[in-house]
Amino acid sequence: MCGIVAYLGTEDAYPILVKGLKRLEYRGYDSAGVALLNNKDITLYKCKGKVSDLETHVGESVTTGNVGIGHTRWATHGPPNDTNAHPHLSGDGDLAIIHNGIIENYNTLKDELINRGHKFTSDTDTEVLAHLIEEVRSNTKVDLFEAVRISLNEVVGAYAIVVMDKNNPSQLIAAKKSSPLVIGIGEDGTYFVGSDATPIVEYTKNVVYLEDEEIALMDKKTGLKIVTIQNREKIPYIQELEMQLEALEKGGYDSFMLKEIYEQPRSIMDCFRGRMNLQKGMVRLSGIEKFEDKWVNAKRIIIVACGTSWHAGLVAEYLFEDLARIPVEVEYASEFRYRNPIIEKDDIVIAISQSGETADTLAAITLAKERGAHIFGVCNVVGSTISRETHSGSYTHAGPEIGVASTKAFTAQVTVLTLMALTVAEKRGAIQPERLHRLIAEINSIPDKVEVALKSNDIVEYISEIYKDASNALYLGRGYTFPVALEGALKLKEISYIHAEGYPAAEMKHGPIALIDEEMPVFVIATQGQSYEKVVSNIEEVKERKGKIIAIVTAGDKHVRKLADHVIEIPKSDDCLVPLLATVPLQLLSYHIAVMRGCNVDQPRNLAKSVTVE
Ligand code: G6P
Repeated sequence: MCGIVAYLGTEDAYPILVKGLKRLEYRGYDSAGVALLNNKDITLYKCKGKVSDLETHVGESVTTGNVGIGHTRWATHGPPNDTNAHPHLSGDGDLAIIHNGIIENYNTLKDELINRGHKFTSDTDTEVLAHLIEEVRSNTKVDLFEAVRISLNEVVGAYAIVVMDKNNPSQLIAAKKSSPLVIGIGEDGTYFVGSDATPIVEYTKNVVYLEDEEIALMDKKTGLKIVTIQNREKIPYIQELEMQLEALEKGGYDSFMLKEIYEQPRSIMDCFRGRMNLQKGMVRLSGIEKFEDKWVNAKRIIIVACGTSWHAGLVAEYLFEDLARIPVEVEYASEFRYRNPIIEKDDIVIAISQSGETADTLAAITLAKERGAHIFGVCNVVGSTISRETHSGSYTHAGPEIGVASTKAFTAQVTVLTLMALTVAEKRGAIQPERLHRLIAEINSIPDKVEVALKSNDIVEYISEIYKDASNALYLGRGYTFPVALEGALKLKEISYIHAEGYPAAEMKHGPIALIDEEMPVFVIATQGQSYEKVVSNIEEVKERKGKIIAIVTAGDKHVRKLADHVIEIPKSDDCLVPLLATVPLQLLSYHIAVMRGCNVDQPRNLAKSVTVE
């Protein structure tokens, strides 16, 4: 994981790097550092902690420099401490390097380098790379760009790196394999580098996304040159960024998470805008149209994803089976990639990923591709690796999601997956036109209904106050709301560190019921629809065991109100769209409980937003 940022230009590098690192902190935040180049001197500042700790560490005495690299870390090799923080230097101190990824053969390389007299100061795989490049350069007498290229041929693993050389103050070198890297091209030989475009967007809209095994030389005088590690020259493909700067700011909210929860009416609308025709009762997704035959003839859909995206996949399982009548399997990408799965050529694999960079999801895609499946991506980050590695796809258009716990990206994923299921259902003749028409109209009303669901904030805050000290919580749902229960439990675990489990309501009898006592809050999604009566029975079972029931109900419900300790109302909707509404109060609940417990909601401990290691 980790975030990397670099600057080469005429301005003071330090403020640009620090601002960029703050934008990338979602990728990891256990240590941070910068290296600044000034008059052939490299000054290194790094420490354990967040970027704000780095700022305190640096204090007022920061050296200026027009070239610099910065890093925010999520530790893989070596504990988070000052020494293991990046940047790392070569043995002679000439090179400084930042790295995101894992050098898998670093032990072998390190032993060889130690045998040849190299001395290491950290436990990291990154320092090994710095020494390797130094050695190649000194042995072969090639320039640094060529030395990086030769060295990377020795490396097994994943990397996004930037290398700075004190003898070449007008250059930076960057390279990537399996970890993302974007180069921003400013004016007059100014360059920016980032793990994503967020540190770059306010300076330039012109960017180049490096491909795997490409190395870029940025030179103030000679411009940008890209070659592959096999030494084939590539013409840089410059794209225009669509990202808006405001989307990266908190906009008056206390946290990104809260802002993102409240953005959902808008992000859901952005997701379906232009894809539905209300009058004609039509849904159109170009990613599906392009491969219509494959979808019409698909024998099976396999969904691969991780974390919250996996929960969106579970909702999609209900949607595709219910509406389009295609069998669906939902797989954790990390399991799928290692269990020799059976994949037929008539299978369609849907990969769901907010970041579009999750290592396990990427590996699952590679495997499914090798075995001949058609791969469809559902990503939020435009231009991300998964969006480029899939045969076709649909973006969720939720805008940048900065809070580590996913909120608006989840509801946007569910929205896109609903549109997909409807498109395919219509093409396969599996849905009656009236139902399709009705569902399209209902989707169109979802942003307003989410707005109403958000009005539950006060009652949710009140309930949070009562249960904030719970040690455990149970979340129950049934049918379409079972994945919502899982997602509700995950949100609480992630940001408030309360142990929580999501369960299908009826399965409770086969285990979790043993945990229920008067201390246990049980959050039940008991909206009116197909499973309503059954869930009401499950509520009775919890009540008999003195569990505390907090029920999410359809507005106006009287029956559950009599049984539950607290109810949270959401507007009525079709069963298949209820996940978009029922999720909202559960997001607010985890947010309030986390704040009341003094937790950092945007950067929960040990987590990172983009998991680019397996
Ligand atoms: C991490 C994040 C989660 C996210 C998961 C999958 O665990 O903290 O919020 O759901 O990765 O990420 P993806 O970007 O593939 O959706």
